[in-house]
Amino acid sequence: MSILDALQCINNERPPVWLMRQAGRYLPEYRALRAKHSFLEMCHCPDLITQVTMMPIERFGFDAAILFSDILIILEALGRTVRFEEGRGPVIDHPLRCSSDIASLKNSDVQKTLGFVAEGIVQLKKRLSVPLLGFCGAPFTVASYLIEGGSSTDLALTKRWMYRDPVGFHLLLDLIAQASIDYLLMQISAGVDAIQIFDTWANALPYRQFGEFSLAYLDRIVQALRPTGKPVILFCRGSSLFAESLVALQPAAISFDWNCDLAHQRKRLGSDIALQGNLDPQLLCAPLPVIEREVNELLDAMEGDSGFILGLGHGILPETPLAAVETLVDCVKARIRV
Ligand code: CP3
Repeated sequence: MSILDALQCINNERPPVWLMRQAGRYLPEYRALRAKHSFLEMCHCPDLITQVTMMPIERFGFDAAILFSDILIILEALGRTVRFEEGRGPVIDHPLRCSSDIASLKNSDVQKTLGFVAEGIVQLKKRLSVPLLGFCGAPFTVASYLIEGGSSTDLALTKRWMYRDPVGFHLLLDLIAQASIDYLLMQISAGVDAIQIFDTWANALPYRQFGEFSLAYLDRIVQALRPTGKPVILFCRGSSLFAESLVALQPAAISFDWNCDLAHQRKRLGSDIALQGNLDPQLLCAPLPVIEREVNELLDAMEGDSGFILGLGHGILPETPLAAVETLVDCVKARIRV
């Protein structure tokens, strides 16, 4: 069984399992390392990238590793740095507020500015026995951080710019999309086996604006990667709302939020796309028998599906008990064949 088989919808064993943010703060070994280094320091050092990416594989035996980094690291190729502040999340100084601010961005060679990521990937490929996922943020989501200057609940500044000055907003998205393509091609040359694109803020957009300001750029990225033959997984918060448009881009897989019934999505979307998801991250804070029941419900619902990857609808919460993750992985691994 390999996640790469599931991504081609040809897996006839148990489904593969991995979790978004599997290399993160719920792991005591991550917190111990993090006590000695800042998050950014860890993202910049190939040895630490390797060590942290391996942590959840070594502890739980997940079927895929995801590169330890962040979707905002790409801003360094655009001449910006991000800081991560305790309790506040990412902070970007001098956020962009209108199209004339776009000129303050640089368009540097990703190999030069983000070469440490490629070095981490090369190291990881020597050590890993499971496939490695690379990633980037969707241009719309990355743009929202550049404009808001950090996390925001309503994306007010981003959406106001989008409605007021769509041409300028497209220029910004275009710049980020190009850098993202270069960045993903670098990750692929360094050795990642598949790519996931995170569009965390897609669900802030109305349906039509999602098509114009997010989907169009996801399409560009997916098409640019097509010649590499590497599978692409699209994750949007709100994937179930936009599923038909996402399928039209012909990615290898769509990763779903927990608001939809995955078996129903399978009926709706046909059999030649892999489906990933879609447990609620809060489920992992429930009593173990509840976790067991819900994981088995999902496994039953997707039984026999050769393109199913079991995961969460969003990132694992820092407060998740280790026993919950063990229970989840045990339930999946107890299935010999689908
Ligand atoms: O999934 C993985 O284990 C791989 C690494 C990874 C991280 N962030 C590590 C991280 C990935 C794929 C991401 C993606 C990411 N980063 C997204 C998209 C996915 C999503 O969750 O919606 C977004 C929106 C970000 C931006 C970001 N990074 C925020 C908002 C925050 C602060 C909030 C938080 O969860 O702490 C981060 C920090 C971050 N990224 C941490 C980790 C392990 C915590 C850093 C720490 O140790 O303090």
